[in-house]
Amino acid sequence: MARKISFINYKGGVGKTSLIVNTAACLAKLGKRVLLFDFDTQSNSSIWLLRLERWNKINANGEGAFFSIFEPGTAKVKDLVIKDVVEDKNGQKILPGLDLVPTAFNLVDLESEYQGDPKRPPYVVFQEQLAEIENDYDFILFDCPPNILRASQCGVFVSNEIYVPSNPDALSLIGFTLLVEKLGKFHQLSASFRKASMGVPAQVQGVIFNSIKSGVDIEVPKMRMQLRLNQFRTAKRVAPTAKIFETQIRDAMIVRRAVTLGLPVLLISQDGPDAPAPGTADNVVGDYRKLATEIVRHGQ
Ligand SMILES: Nc1ncnc2c1ncn2[C@@H]1O[C@H](COP(=O)(O)OP(=O)(O)O)[C@@H](O)[C@H]1O
Ligand SMILES: [Mg+2]
Repeated sequence: MARKISFINYKGGVGKTSLIVNTAACLAKLGKRVLLFDFDTQSNSSIWLLRLERWNKINANGEGAFFSIFEPGTAKVKDLVIKDVVEDKNGQKILPGLDLVPTAFNLVDLESEYQGDPKRPPYVVFQEQLAEIENDYDFILFDCPPNILRASQCGVFVSNEIYVPSNPDALSLIGFTLLVEKLGKFHQLSASFRKASMGVPAQVQGVIFNSIKSGVDIEVPKMRMQLRLNQFRTAKRVAPTAKIFETQIRDAMIVRRAVTLGLPVLLISQDGPDAPAPGTADNVVGDYRKLATEIVRHGQ
């Protein structure tokens, strides 16, 4: 059965997208079958993995974008999957095993204009359609915006696990706290729509520290996060196995550049014109690989 994981924090800019794109790439490199959903209207992971030219075609009329399962409602999730999404500049597939369901800017309409059937909230429509293809994958990952509105609800409703990307600062801790509160409320609200086959509602399984600058001591923010996690665990508001992931991702310029290059950092050539400063990329690639391995292990 596929492990379904939402990456979410109520704080923006903490690295949800960079973590999910690079981890997804590492999981695919490990031979896992991975499907990534972009649930953020800003379309960052879609633009990253498709590059602007391919993504512009989808954004132009919304055809092939996630919102099309709701409006006009003719497409099904399975029709939207872009197989082995990552291509080099010549259109050659260079990362078999990583598939994407992209979004376009029209996803914003799901939050306001979309009416739908009140008896079938968007997350129910999505859950039924995902069920048709989920057995094709080992991992299904959801890149969420910093809220639990309708788009995120699709990911959160079907997920078995929630990971919380964080920076070592007070605002990430607030974002995490708010997330746990909103998650509890959403699970209550959606309880009557759950089917037995879906298993229990997803709880926070882990916090992942991202963008750690070398030489900066993060013991204090880490300790504060650990304390909050312990309180939530005692109150049974996060998973009993919830933890701060051992792996933390360092701050590295190549992560920012990877977006422009349209590649996960793992695929950026070490010796070409885009090569990072000696030593820097290797290390952050190593972090992502370690994180992917830790995620694989956490589910066993
Ligand atoms: N490990 C990292 N090192 C350097 N920059 C990073 C790292 N992770 C993320 N960033 C940068 O921080 C910004 C926010 O990251 P992003 O993944 O888009 O966050 P979110 O999805 O939470 O909004 C982006 O410009 C991204 O390139
Ligand atoms: Mg993002």
